[in-house]
Amino acid sequence: MNVNTYRLALIGFGNVGQGLTQIIRDLDFSEYGAKFQVVAVCDLLKGSVYHPDGLDPAELLEAIALKGSLESIHAPYRDWDAIRTITDTNADVVVEMSYTDLKTGEPAFTHIRTALRHGKHAIMTNKGPVALHYAELKTLANQQGVELGVEGTVMSGTPSLRLGTELLSAARITKIQGIVNGTTNYILTRMEQGNTYESALSEAQSKGYAEADPTGDVEGHDAVGKVVILANLLMGASLRINDVDRTGITGLTVQDIETARVAGERWKLIGTVEKTSAGVRASVQPTRLPISHPLAGVAGATNAITYTTQLLGEVTLVGPGAGRIETGYALIGDLLAIHRKKQK
Ligand code: HSE
Repeated sequence: MNVNTYRLALIGFGNVGQGLTQIIRDLDFSEYGAKFQVVAVCDLLKGSVYHPDGLDPAELLEAIALKGSLESIHAPYRDWDAIRTITDTNADVVVEMSYTDLKTGEPAFTHIRTALRHGKHAIMTNKGPVALHYAELKTLANQQGVELGVEGTVMSGTPSLRLGTELLSAARITKIQGIVNGTTNYILTRMEQGNTYESALSEAQSKGYAEADPTGDVEGHDAVGKVVILANLLMGASLRINDVDRTGITGLTVQDIETARVAGERWKLIGTVEKTSAGVRASVQPTRLPISHPLAGVAGATNAITYTTQLLGEVTLVGPGAGRIETGYALIGDLLAIHRKKQK
């Protein structure tokens, strides 16, 4: 079988970048006719290296594990900034994993536009540019004849977007409801088990679920970003972040959780998108669900989305919603989608 090699430039080398690198180190994709080679890594804090013939994924991970930086990596080019890494390397695919900013989408938005303008595929786990500028980026990608991969922005490696856009779209999705933030679901689950909010949050941070600034998780901003992505990509809406009614979980007390438990109910942070006669409406709200409700049993960092469709009724997808390998896998899905497209 012919094997196509895809050269990757990784922008951001935190949990997700390292998760992707670990998958590339450990798994062989030649049975799919593809090989993924990391040629460049650029991280604001850890440093920047480029080798046109490829960097060793094991060495990259070891350098971070030992020193927390890429300083010890031998590479002919180093210290390039993100833009130069995107424009001047031989990468075919730019993987955008810098920190999420849901107000401006920057710097990721500029990184992705630059990649597309230079005829490079762009795949990302960064929700900012997708929630804020998806239509513009998609148009640019189409004009340039390259692909835009966004699967990891909702439910990490669990293929919620591909399921909705490719497999359920003809069944007509009328409503989407789900648990789309792993950190808050993890915190609520641990609080039900008797832990404090603070210790549950710090556990979620150490497991790599939380955003760099966890306010984005606990105040519901991250879930709002995902709800906007679901509405715009799956329902053809043009929602903006401010169109979504939002309440986070910080107002919930141990007493609220205990009262619900005694009544046979559970608090969950539920994101909802619904087609109404007035257009598409969306919200993120803590909601008390009876234990018998399918979403009430979804525990820890697990996410779940129920798609209500005209033709199939309800279809529910349950799976990981955060984590380094889990989110890294979403990028593998996007890479294989680029590869399949190339085969056609
Ligand atoms: N902070 C996010 C979460 C990461 O907890 O769900 C995945 O988008």
